[in-house]
Amino acid sequence: MKRLTDRLNELSEGKTYPFHMPGHKRNTELMGTLLPYEIDITEITGFDNLHGADGIIDDIQSRLCSFYKSKKSFLLVNGSTCGIMSAITCLCCIGEGIVAARNCHKSVYKAIELYKLSPAWVSPEFDASTGIMGRISPQSVENALKSSSAGLVVITSPTYEGVISNIPEIAKVCHKYGALLMVDMAHGAHLPLMGGFEEAYGADIAVVSLHKTLPCLTQTACLNVYSDKIDVARLAESLSAFETSSPSYPLMASVDRCMTLIEKQGCQLADKYKSLLGDFYDRTFRLKALRIYRTDDYGKLIIACDKASISGSELFARLRDSYAIECEMASARYVVTMSSMCDTCEGFERLIDALFEIDKELTPQQKLPLTLCGVPKVCMTSYEAVRREKECVELTKAQGRISAEYVFAYPPGIPLLAPGEEISDGILSGIAELEAAGVEIHTDYGSLMISVLK
Ligand SMILES: Cc1ncc(COP(=O)(O)O)c(C=O)c1O
Repeated sequence: MKRLTDRLNELSEGKTYPFHMPGHKRNTELMGTLLPYEIDITEITGFDNLHGADGIIDDIQSRLCSFYKSKKSFLLVNGSTCGIMSAITCLCCIGEGIVAARNCHKSVYKAIELYKLSPAWVSPEFDASTGIMGRISPQSVENALKSSSAGLVVITSPTYEGVISNIPEIAKVCHKYGALLMVDMAHGAHLPLMGGFEEAYGADIAVVSLHKTLPCLTQTACLNVYSDKIDVARLAESLSAFETSSPSYPLMASVDRCMTLIEKQGCQLADKYKSLLGDFYDRTFRLKALRIYRTDDYGKLIIACDKASISGSELFARLRDSYAIECEMASARYVVTMSSMCDTCEGFERLIDALFEIDKELTPQQKLPLTLCGVPKVCMTSYEAVRREKECVELTKAQGRISAEYVFAYPPGIPLLAPGEEISDGILSGIAELEAAGVEIHTDYGSLMISVLK
């Protein structure tokens, strides 16, 4: 079978006139070639249909299946976000319990809201020096399952910072209590190439953002089903509710191209990548004030400044403004730099040189331990809270009130507070600490105000 990318190229070079969507009609004379108009089509004959794929798109899904060793893989074009929403709403009934890690992405919180689910939250370990969330322990999942009738457990692994939990052990606990395990592996799409990450597997269902760590266009992701207990037909139905009915061919073609690259050169590219990473860690070991905080997925380069005279946001700005290095995100005490197998030797050299230059000007500094925001008291479901009458108050005067909205530190979009939760003193000090360190706090009415229940 010819591959999707080849077929799209043939089509763009041919003389077929497109009397079909999209409206730009692949007219590059009019639109220029900056955007991929030549290959932007809709589901015309011979090009399969993402929702019910059995041809050229299913070929990509089969290759994803063998890469992720899944029973079934769904190619997604609306990010892991749509995979998470679809899976949770497929696997839970309205009003049920769910066990979820507190450091889950906002899409998990949104699915919980939509289906009026009652969450039993599980807190990850916390490194008070850097503020980095650690692993979810199997014991904490067991404790939550004992006190909940949840049929689904959702955790994030690897995290934004590359922390991987013991998934096989957590899966055993879930299955003992008759619950399914969903792992948000949005940040782990590349793990099969890295080797030694078997502990990342064992979930019943997992989602990966292909676009985050593999050479695929933004929004591409993949939902991997590993267990017979998951009704694949129902899941497909659920996906059709949360994912566009006009999937982008350029996005899907980028996954086709990425899989071809991995099939042909994956091992060489991964070896080169691992050697660049090895060199990075060896050399940056000599930094004096900054330090590299190595996590399980060591492709996430975490530059910690918990013992240096600079904040995460200042370091982020220094790298961008003085060295033209744009990093992924800044937290109070660290910066996340995402690397991938497409990085170059020159890129790594630039980062290492910049870090040493900045480090030279810094002095070691003792900083107080950070506050863990913790899990607030849940007073009602988020579904109920967002529908109640609300008012807007200053954040500093909100202690003891019930939140009517989500409060995020962004990125990575993990809520500190959800609707229906009590605003405690601890939460307010956690938010103030993050803000003071220059981390962006998102609320509906700007960072100083919050909407609360009347
Ligand atoms: C842990 C986690 N899960 C899910 C997502 C959503 O992924 P996507 O952007 O592919 O929808 C993100 C995005 O940053 C994330 O960090």
